[in-house]
Amino acid sequence: MVKICCIGAGYVGGPTMAVIALKCPSIEVAVVDISITRINAWNSDQLPIYEPGLEDVVKQCRGKNLFFSTDVEKHVSEADIIFVSVNTPTKTRGLGAGKAADLTYWESAARMIADVSKSNKIVVEKSTVPVKTAEAIEKILTHNSKGINFQILSNPEFLAEGTAIQDLLKPDRVLIGGRETPDGQKAIQALKDVYAHWVPEDRILATNLWSAELSKLAANAFLAQRISSVNAMSALCEATGADVTQVSHAVGKDSRIGPKFLNASVGFGGSCFQKDILNLVYICECNGLPEVANYWKQVIKVNDYQKNRFVNRVVSSMFNTVSGKKIAVLGFAFKKDTGDTRETPAIDVCKGLLGDKARLSIYDPQVSEEQIQRDLSMNKFDWDHPLHLQPLSPTAVKQVSVVWDAYEATKDAHGVCILTEWNEFKTLDYQRIYDNMRKPAFVFDGRNIVNAEKLREIGFIVYSIGKPLDPWLEDMPAVA
Ligand code: UDX
Ligand code: UDX
Repeated sequence: MVKICCIGAGYVGGPTMAVIALKCPSIEVAVVDISITRINAWNSDQLPIYEPGLEDVVKQCRGKNLFFSTDVEKHVSEADIIFVSVNTPTKTRGLGAGKAADLTYWESAARMIADVSKSNKIVVEKSTVPVKTAEAIEKILTHNSKGINFQILSNPEFLAEGTAIQDLLKPDRVLIGGRETPDGQKAIQALKDVYAHWVPEDRILATNLWSAELSKLAANAFLAQRISSVNAMSALCEATGADVTQVSHAVGKDSRIGPKFLNASVGFGGSCFQKDILNLVYICECNGLPEVANYWKQVIKVNDYQKNRFVNRVVSSMFNTVSGKKIAVLGFAFKKDTGDTRETPAIDVCKGLLGDKARLSIYDPQVSEEQIQRDLSMNKFDWDHPLHLQPLSPTAVKQVSVVWDAYEATKDAHGVCILTEWNEFKTLDYQRIYDNMRKPAFVFDGRNIVNAEKLREIGFIVYSIGKPLDPWLEDMPAVA
């Protein structure tokens, strides 16, 4: 029986291994993690991450051919194929600070694999890593190999949160990079055989290691670039009276461009986009390509600009001050259908409003008060470490309250900011919300999900990203 072990039971490792176990009953899959709390949660009824369809898959396989354990060394030593999906935080100090990936966790995983292995292993990079990481890992493994053969593969993950299970069940492609040697090709085939249980062969692409690593960064950079492009257009739409939804629709009708991923928003978030682009920028700089680096940097700059622009719209609409005013924040996760808040635009928007002394009342159907408080007091990049290594009990931000109901959040508020496109925010009773708010009552829709005309009929002053401005906003000072 083939045995697979995955180091790192997070958003990537957990769902990916659950789907492999579901589709390959003949393979035993163990997911291991240094975090005891995480593993306990995977073994309980309350999984550590919220992902539609995940619970079902886990329940079908757990205890049969899917196991969650903290006994890292045992499962690693028994496995034929080891996936590594541990954190790769952005460095906050030293060489490459603010851009380069910190490979501490990866390196210690590689050293541990070398220590405990007694048979040949295929080691698969699953976490996003800078190009050429495989080479470094290969060196660590082969220099400590005691005669064991290690083959390194890069098998980047393309799942998007909220649709992870569907993405895993029906991937656009599975990418496997490996050495162009006979042993390398054999390893690629072994991993292909796993995916071939459910993925059509023509969707499994084999490349060399560096192409696989770079393809992941490139794919995420292209996706993020699309959002920054449409968000840049949204600013111009507001200035000219065009409607960004109409522009996106018209642009997306060109079959060479395509309609997906063209929704203007308050900004992109998530654990990958910014980090991957920073990695890309760093690699370009290290390779003497400053023009290329600056090109990609701009994608992040526009994203930051978009978040700032949103905060400025809120503050300038409300007579240039939100000091002491209650502002309701609906949605904190970085997108709908996930409880994940890593790099969510809500963090910067909330910090911006707090900087202007607003009082915030936040509601998100999947994010806990503890998480929100932690996010608002954590330093940039600190989130990408195992839970127990993150800063402990940060001081709660006093001007922030977290509630479990949109009506409670908006009661007596001066303004409402919609920061995540949760379906339930589309069907709220906005008349009831309006009746219980201070007047004038504002809605700032950072995801373009409400019907602005209907809300205006109720009496709201509405700001929608990239849409013709409410006359109220037109009269307000220009936004920086
Ligand atoms: C992501 C991406 O895969 C990757 O690109 C990014 O660099 C890091 O994380 P994700 O699954 O979303 O993966 O991250 P996370 O949910 O934080 O999971 C990582 C897990 O690895 C954590 O549960 C952590 O406890 C575990 N870990 C970390 C180990 O088991 N051992 C370590 O040495 C370090
Ligand atoms: C992304 C990639 O899509 C995935 O392939 C990769 O494996 C990991 O990174 P993820 O971050 O989970 O996935 O979500 P994604 O759906 O890509 O959304 C990222 C951010 O962009 C979210 O904040 C989302 O709200 C935002 N977004 C997306 C927009 O603002 N507009 C859009 O049109 C699409």
